[in-house]
Amino acid sequence: MTDPQTWHYGLIAEWSAQFNTGGPEIDYFGRFVERGQPALDAGCGTGRLLLPWLRAGFDVDGCDVSADMVALAREHARGEGLEPTLFVQPLHELAAARRYRTVVVCGVFGLGTTRLQDQRALVRLRDALEPGGTLLLDNQVPYFYGKRWRQWTPEERARLPEPWPPPGERRRAADGSEYRLRSRAVEVDPLDQRIALEMLAEKWIDDRPVGREEHTITIRMYFRDELVMMLERAGFAEVDVRGGYTDAEPTLDDEYLVFRARRP
Ligand SMILES: C[S@@+](CC[C@H](N)C(=O)[O-])C[C@H]1O[C@@H](n2cnc3c(N)ncnc32)[C@H](O)[C@@H]1O
Repeated sequence: MTDPQTWHYGLIAEWSAQFNTGGPEIDYFGRFVERGQPALDAGCGTGRLLLPWLRAGFDVDGCDVSADMVALAREHARGEGLEPTLFVQPLHELAAARRYRTVVVCGVFGLGTTRLQDQRALVRLRDALEPGGTLLLDNQVPYFYGKRWRQWTPEERARLPEPWPPPGERRRAADGSEYRLRSRAVEVDPLDQRIALEMLAEKWIDDRPVGREEHTITIRMYFRDELVMMLERAGFAEVDVRGGYTDAEPTLDDEYLVFRARRP
């Protein structure tokens, strides 16, 4: 099986460590982690969720397919005197050293993988839980952004790849270095419900260009009931879907759905 095709390496990993630090997911999933420890942040990236949870004293491990993301999460944790258990593994090969009461998969499912790998990942995630443990997995609905949704049609697919967008503003990091990211869609496969995107990442130090990288990611888009069925097929029970990062029923306008499921 191929390795996941994700863009979370090099300068993109640095960008994430520098700028991807907030969001409602931290407290929303954090409530479940607080009540259900130990926990695993599966696809932890550079620690946007993991670091605040460690600071709060939660017993939480992290894993991710990208060694670059994990290294930056570890560096940041060490800087605060924390030594979490972090390991590099794709979800479909997840084999953690212990079992968890809670596993959180935030902004990860469907990235870089084949459909078969996604189905296997759900089985691995189930096996990573103690009996009675809870999986929390979020997913962006495929139809939220009109531009991307229209790219499923033959007319719009014929226009791909998109041209690179004009360069935007550079963003200054805490250490004074500057970053700029641009992305474009290159391919859409509506049968596989998959889009491929490219990212151009650039970095400057003291206004001197020091890095320019291109990375590619594939993203598989799932519909609500499809994911519910996949979770059930993977052996989960009590599969429940919530809208956004709230406890409410999903609405037609939610960008993200959160799937909660229990290992029997
Ligand atoms: C958008 S980031 C989200 C990181 C973190 N969960 C958060 O919410 O900030 C996606 C992360 O998923 C990781 N990832 C992508 N595909 C993966 C896979 N198949 N298995 C494990 N991790 C994966 C990437 O390396 C990246 O760190």
